[in-house]
Amino acid sequence: MALDIIIGAQWGDEGKGRITDLLAAQANIVARYSGGDNAGHTVTVAGEIFKLHLIPSGIIHPGVICLIGNGTVINPAVLLREMEALAARGVDVGPHRLKISRNAHLITPAHVALDKAREAHRGSDPIGTTLRGIGPAYTDKASRVGLRAELFDDPEGLADRMEIHIQGANETLTKIYGAEPLDSAAIAAEFTAYAQRLHPYLVDGSVLIDQALRHGRDVLAEGAQGTFLDLDHGTYPYVTSSWPTAGGALIGLGVGPNKVRRVIGVAKAFTSRVGSGPFPCELSGDEAVRLRGTGANPWDEYGTTTGRPRRVGWLDVVLLRHAVRINGLTELAITKLDILSGLKKVPVCVAYERHGEQLEHYPTDLRVLAECQPVYEILDGWQEDVTGARTLTDLPVNARHYVEFIAAQTETAMTYISVGPGRDQVIQV
Ligand code: IMP
Ligand code: MG
Repeated sequence: MALDIIIGAQWGDEGKGRITDLLAAQANIVARYSGGDNAGHTVTVAGEIFKLHLIPSGIIHPGVICLIGNGTVINPAVLLREMEALAARGVDVGPHRLKISRNAHLITPAHVALDKAREAHRGSDPIGTTLRGIGPAYTDKASRVGLRAELFDDPEGLADRMEIHIQGANETLTKIYGAEPLDSAAIAAEFTAYAQRLHPYLVDGSVLIDQALRHGRDVLAEGAQGTFLDLDHGTYPYVTSSWPTAGGALIGLGVGPNKVRRVIGVAKAFTSRVGSGPFPCELSGDEAVRLRGTGANPWDEYGTTTGRPRRVGWLDVVLLRHAVRINGLTELAITKLDILSGLKKVPVCVAYERHGEQLEHYPTDLRVLAECQPVYEILDGWQEDVTGARTLTDLPVNARHYVEFIAAQTETAMTYISVGPGRDQVIQV
């Protein structure tokens, strides 16, 4: 019937996985539209934790078809490992459930090696990538020399193209970066084996989605990363190499804008970021530890993919307003409200100040952003545990005020408030 899109409204790790999990139950197809295994989505079902990187979180729901869309980049070795891990826990990952768009691009060992070499070459100013080969794979796509998943149907063609690709990358790796060359024949053979296992999964993703929509079914586009990691609309160059925003969902799946119903922005009740780049509301010291956690809990702020401690700060509604505009958000979902329980005061950044002037819009120029100071409005905190709340009226009045304040500041309706990692720990407004 319609396409709903789930978008990260911050720098990723907003808890999109759990909102996807919630909506996937009603969907016929759940599709990833951008990024690759740089993503890390944690979903908790009946106390069991699933960490997914490439396969849409919808896979946990029996009967839902999961599509890895054309806008993604796929490392087949990682995909197969993830499929095996799910299968070992009784999740069906057969080709009737999991589908790969023929025109998704492949990540090769050369892309991973180039990602590492380029990051090392940046010295003291790295992007802080996940080192999964994401940037180099998208670079090859834009340069029109990439390898697409459709080659799984043509193992010989794939092997030939792979040898040429690796030999070309070896020139760069050895001559520019002084790195070791890769064994092109061995990699070609490795990918021939992947092709044999993965070719039954290939589909035309756009046609698959169109057919579902024509049959009156719902399709859910599952975002990875977040608005501020978007190649165009994020904190360039400290971004990922794809388009995690709503426009990216349409390109990354081959769907027209007239099919879109809801665009749900997911934001954490505070802000976090992994990797380098500007972060106006960043905290340090005890305040940061308070928001980040110590790493003892699975939901503490440590990267799902890299294990890095995340940088954290108070909620920034200047960012959220940008996300609302760029994505055309129809609503917001707030996650991890429970983490703020017990604070006396909860600051929220409502504007940036630069040279004595207040900025209304998020500045896209990093030089301007670097000169911005957050302007905080200090809200009263709440001491009560909110993890048992299932309706708005279950929330302490200050927690409710916090949520209403965000909705008012962003002029966007709040439709979900998550108050804990469990599947049922959510308020649906
Ligand atoms: P890349 O996507 O590996 O090239 O990394 C580029 C930037 O995006 C780095 O700052 C990463 O930390 C960040 N990034 C990539 N994927 C995610 C994610 O899923 N969550 C949060 N940050 C991410
Ligand atoms: Mg994540």
